Amino acid sequence: MPATVIVGAQWGDEGKGKIVDLLAQNSDVVCRYQGGPNAGHTIVVGEETYKIRALPSGIVRGKPCVIGNGCVVDLEVLIAELDELGDRGEVYLSGNAHLIMPWHVAIDQASERRLGKLAIGTTKRGIGPCYADKAMRLGIRVQDILDPKILRQKIEVALAEKNLWLERVYETAPFDLETVAAQYESYAQRLRPYVADTSLYVDKALRDGKEVLLEGAQATLLDLDHGTYPFVTSSNPVAASAATGVGIGPRRIDRVIGVAKAYVTRVGEGPFPSEIEGPDQERMRELGHEYGTVTGRERRCGWLDLVALRYAVRVNGIDQLALTKLDVLSHFAELPVCVRYRTPDGSETPDFPAHQSDFHAAAPVYQVLPGWSEPLDGCASLEELPEAARTYVELVERELGVEVTLLGTGAERSSVLTRA
Ligand code: GDP
Ligand code: IMO
Ligand code: MG
Repeated sequence: MPATVIVGAQWGDEGKGKIVDLLAQNSDVVCRYQGGPNAGHTIVVGEETYKIRALPSGIVRGKPCVIGNGCVVDLEVLIAELDELGDRGEVYLSGNAHLIMPWHVAIDQASERRLGKLAIGTTKRGIGPCYADKAMRLGIRVQDILDPKILRQKIEVALAEKNLWLERVYETAPFDLETVAAQYESYAQRLRPYVADTSLYVDKALRDGKEVLLEGAQATLLDLDHGTYPFVTSSNPVAASAATGVGIGPRRIDRVIGVAKAYVTRVGEGPFPSEIEGPDQERMRELGHEYGTVTGRERRCGWLDLVALRYAVRVNGIDQLALTKLDVLSHFAELPVCVRYRTPDGSETPDFPAHQSDFHAAAPVYQVLPGWSEPLDGCASLEELPEAARTYVELVERELGVEVTLLGTGAERSSVLTRA
């Protein structure tokens, strides 16, 4: 199975980093195909915790890592990560990836402020404004750092417009051309050696029969096209976009692994049908340590939503599921699982609503399963789970028609169960 996509199946933070780290052991190359430092992928190795935002999670295992053309890159964040982890493995940075410039961050912040109650709750890392400039054909790309003259020129052209917006529309401070140009020239010197034709590199790896992992950031329900728009990110995390995001053909992808928590969390605004009401919300947040990796915000917690997960299976073509954080559920006597949505006319549907207002109005229909109190860390395989936990996993498999092949039982790298 040479090319495997790892995709978030909910609203992000499913534990993709941990699953990529696990699969990286038997892989030769690990690529990120979209998103930027809005991502925070955690890998826990003994006493050490890595929170990775720009590099593919395979870097912790020392695997060659590719930042694909579909990503947006904040050079300051990337350099800090390279300083910390860069000597572990080779890093290849696509020349076609777009740069998150300081004005993207300023506009993201100012625009969220202006939206007030209507804010999306972004990570304020400049993601939306950067992808918007890419679509407007005004962006600055990684390859522009290869030529100091071009880089300066592009910064000058961009600033002429962005400073007007910042000052007149958003009433915030403009950027000084000389300061930005000098800063980016110094970033450029550091990063030039990493710039590569990553499409060619990945193609060659696949031709040589190597195992390539394609790591998604964010997740299906945050997808710009398929997520809960407008409360989404500005890229396409869905599996199909892995091909565009690294520059290979779609038929090169052999396997799609969806990563889902055994419950659901969401950071930022937007509808969330299975969001827990009452004290269990806080309890789950504490038990699961559900605070944003990037922003430290409280994550909203909900019961497992199989309607949303069924949708994720469909739009990604998921053929295996990694179900993480099952251990967190060990502390609940009863476990509601959302199996259908009830619509305002009283009917029930197993399918995710196609339209925004229908999704807003959807109410969860729960099947309540018994919990278990045994800790899961003594289990050696999926088959050894306590009976109630097995029933829980089997319900997921039956409802989705997809096998759970990996099961997370703790944050630590080794806390994963497979089938015996
Ligand atoms: P990602 O963005 O999808 O990589 O996920 P994050 O790293 O943002 O959030 C997942 C959190 O859950 C991290 O703190 C992980 O260390 C932790 N985690 C991952 N898998 C498990 C698991 O199976 N059990 C528990 N208790 N924690 C886990
Ligand atoms: P990982 O890769 C969870 C959310 C933000 C906000 C929306 C838009 O760690 O799973 P953006 O800054 O992208 O414009 O914000 O998307 N969001 C995430 N939520 N995990 C992430 O990444 C996220 N990246 C963005 O909270 O609701
Ligand atoms: Mg995360």
